[in-house]
Amino acid sequence: MYPVPVAGVRELLVTSGSTMAAAEVARQMSEGARNLSLSGHVGFDSMPDQLVNKSVCQGFCFNILCVGETGLGKSTLMDTLFNTRFEGDPAAHNQPGVHIKSNNYELQESNVRLKLSIVNSVGFGDQINKEESYKSIVEFIDAQFEAYLQEELKIKRTLHNYHDSRIHVCLYFIAPTGHSLKSLDLVTMKKLDSKVNIIPIIAKADSISKNELQKFKIKIMSELVSNGVQIYQFPTDDETVAEINGTMNAHLPFAVVGSTEEIKIGNKMMKARQYPWGTVQVENENHCDFVKLREMLIRVNMEDLREQTHARHYELYRRCKLEEMGFKDTDPDNKPFSLQETYEAKRNEFLGELQKKEEEMRQMFVMRVKEKESELKEAEKELHDKFDRLKKLHQDEKKKLEDKKKSLDDEINAFKQRKTAAELLQSQAQQSGSQQTLKRDKERKNNPWLCTE
Ligand code: GTP
Ligand code: MG
Repeated sequence: MYPVPVAGVRELLVTSGSTMAAAEVARQMSEGARNLSLSGHVGFDSMPDQLVNKSVCQGFCFNILCVGETGLGKSTLMDTLFNTRFEGDPAAHNQPGVHIKSNNYELQESNVRLKLSIVNSVGFGDQINKEESYKSIVEFIDAQFEAYLQEELKIKRTLHNYHDSRIHVCLYFIAPTGHSLKSLDLVTMKKLDSKVNIIPIIAKADSISKNELQKFKIKIMSELVSNGVQIYQFPTDDETVAEINGTMNAHLPFAVVGSTEEIKIGNKMMKARQYPWGTVQVENENHCDFVKLREMLIRVNMEDLREQTHARHYELYRRCKLEEMGFKDTDPDNKPFSLQETYEAKRNEFLGELQKKEEEMRQMFVMRVKEKESELKEAEKELHDKFDRLKKLHQDEKKKLEDKKKSLDDEINAFKQRKTAAELLQSQAQQSGSQQTLKRDKERKNNPWLCTE
């Protein structure tokens, strides 16, 4: 690239014609810029207009994330900022965790169309255990980056009409306690600061006195610094907005009041909140920083917020993700490493790992088979032993029973013999008894005087 303005180069080539050698042109260009004016109008000064026309045709998109505890005035502030009424009923706040609700709107101002997404962290700070409150917010932001990355990595990309849902700004609503930031605020902002542009705002600033508010702002900023929380700084590198942005950076966090109610003040209708003791005018810079926020967020830095989201936060996400996937720009010797080489290296690494895994699995399988085999052999041996033991036991039992049977048989036989002998004796006794009776009867018959017993 030569540091010569395009107009100068063209003029050099036109005026010198064929007499000036290309090397001489290059030498002049490398020596420094020569601003030569064109002799007639060419037309590339319409480039900015062409860009504006193209952008107006395409329309813009802007995605705002509102994070803050229940009832801090998030919806009211959005309505006040865009001078419209967005969503209906407030969400129920009795859920076990934080969930993300996104609403899309199409707004038009003059001939500029804006696709606006307002994302709310419903239930934030409602749980007793608030440790996990930031998780669903972080996951949501990452999911939008991931969707964009997937679209970007496609072979057929349609990024020009892709609905970009990446969060461009996070308005972090701080409760107007007047004391200090809650640990929930610090933890959440710390987790979000590398993923999104955070603009901290003190909500319901009409409930805090002027002196207290100043002290509160200083306290919040010092706590953010001491905890290393990076909030969005309005850019000061563009000299057209450097001054206003520099001044506004010193006003952070903005103390805002929201209201959709219009009250007649003087002969003008103004957004205000009316109290028994007076009226807080939302757009009065002596009353609150609402106008400052609107100026910074919408009128001056909306494009920078979009740009920062793409160039800083998305870039970081993309880099980490691609590194996680194994892509790298240089090899260990700091030499450029092409995507093709990365792919080949990754493929070889993958195939190597696959082979290693296969080998491991094969060895594991063989080992398991061997283990199973020895287990089975062991079990078989145990079964055989058991069988032998039982067989022996059975034989012993059988032998015992046989012995017992034999002794019983012997006893039965002896008993039978005794019985027969007894029966024989008994019959003999009976026989001799009856013979004596006959003999006595005979004797009595012969001798009737023989007395009977
Ligand atoms: P959730 O969506 O339920 O979490 O609430 P939110 O944060 O969207 O609050 P919302 O805008 O619904 O306002 C809650 C209440 O606070 C309403 O009664 C509003 O009128 C009131 N309110 C909103 N902004 C302000 C403010 O700046 N000051 C005061 N004092 N009250 C406000
Ligand atoms: Mg709400």
